[in-house]
Amino acid sequence: MNITMIGTGYVGLVTGACLAELGHRVTCMDKDEGKINRLLAGEIPIYEPGLDALVAKNVNDGRLSFSTDLASCIPDARAVFIAVGTPSSRRGDGYADLTYIYAAAKDLAPHLQNYTVVIDKSTVPVGTARQVARVIRQENPQADFEVVSNPEFLREGAAINDFMRPDRIVIGTDSEQAGQVMKEVYNPLYRISVPFVITGLETAELIKYASNAFLSVKISFINEMANICEEVGADVIDLAKAVGLDGRIGKKFLHAGPGYGGSCFPKDTLALLRIAQEHGVASRSVEAAVEINAAQKARMVKKIRDALGGSVDGKTIAALGLTFKPETDDLRDAPALTILPPLFEKGAIIQAHDPQGMKEASKIFPDFTYVKNAYEACNNADAVVLFTEWNQYRALDLQDIKARMKTPIFIDLRNVYSPEQMRQAGFTYVGVGRG
Ligand code: UGA
Repeated sequence: MNITMIGTGYVGLVTGACLAELGHRVTCMDKDEGKINRLLAGEIPIYEPGLDALVAKNVNDGRLSFSTDLASCIPDARAVFIAVGTPSSRRGDGYADLTYIYAAAKDLAPHLQNYTVVIDKSTVPVGTARQVARVIRQENPQADFEVVSNPEFLREGAAINDFMRPDRIVIGTDSEQAGQVMKEVYNPLYRISVPFVITGLETAELIKYASNAFLSVKISFINEMANICEEVGADVIDLAKAVGLDGRIGKKFLHAGPGYGGSCFPKDTLALLRIAQEHGVASRSVEAAVEINAAQKARMVKKIRDALGGSVDGKTIAALGLTFKPETDDLRDAPALTILPPLFEKGAIIQAHDPQGMKEASKIFPDFTYVKNAYEACNNADAVVLFTEWNQYRALDLQDIKARMKTPIFIDLRNVYSPEQMRQAGFTYVGVGRG
């Protein structure tokens, strides 16, 4: 099938490459000429494991191409995905900014020729798909098209596997014909028994927010338990393991830490709260998750300050990991970005390392020192803070680190190390919820 992907950001590029891998002929389109030129030159604008090889393979096989010209890639496409960004609105009120979605709908409308399914892939508030249909209809009253909602559930760092082996595929549509086209799009996955949930437009749109919100609630819940563990002398790792072994609860997303970050949970929880508010209903569990998450980050600042004897003035902190999670170069809403500035403002000297995030971080924090590995970050440090659980930080040579530090204080915000192991290695160890 001929497919056009509008938007070659994270979701658009991964989805486009994966659909090509499933055998479709995909054109990834973007207005950003620089980005398309880089892709045409074989450069991948984001760090996502395996994406470079997947793109190269499908370009070579002739199934994947890139373009800035909408007029040439809409008429022959049976399915047109809209995968443009939906950032939080600049007003800071939690609303998703839909400018790019409606602009894409308006731009594609005049080029529709044969029956086409237009698919909302971006995370959008309830009612957006119907509004996209109205925009297209207004621009091109003769167009033969239908709009479908098909939310994505890709995790950064694991996106290709998440696409190829999804837990489910959600298709929101009122039309049997559009549903049929979507089944053809995902046919190879249908054949390996991936569950399909075919539902109405509004439900599909809400499923995405509900999924991300539930995971946010789960993380905030375990972080709250971690805080209780710290006060009563209990251990959150054992607690999460035992609680998660209950099949009704499940063990995933029960890792206590510095609070969730990234481009999705913080934005989508706020957007869901706005949707609820607009319709006069409450979503108190999500509201609490958002508050707990902010408080958790503040608590981490205090944890670091306390470990350093109450003041960070003139103290050197080795910051390991800056991205919001491993295997990405994405710094959006990363816990380190909230936790480090108040320490820096109080006089801390920050020596930072991250395998992928330093280029971007140095633009945000030009006054931090960036070093080429974890060990250099520890030179003359008063404390190490592990923010992101990159694999290369999981088996550090503890004696080497200790020898480089002024005082052997290890603050492990991801609970990578065991308190016992750290004590034996001669460190003062502080984890999250390891009372
Ligand atoms: C999330 C969802 O997991 C995807 O299903 C969804 O498609 C995506 O948002 C999106 O809406 O596009 P992502 O933001 O890439 O994916 O990353 P996650 O792996 O979900 O992690 C989010 C944050 O939660 C990270 O800061 C991570 O460190 C934190 N986290 C996760 C915890 O603190 N504890 C956990 O147990 C799990």
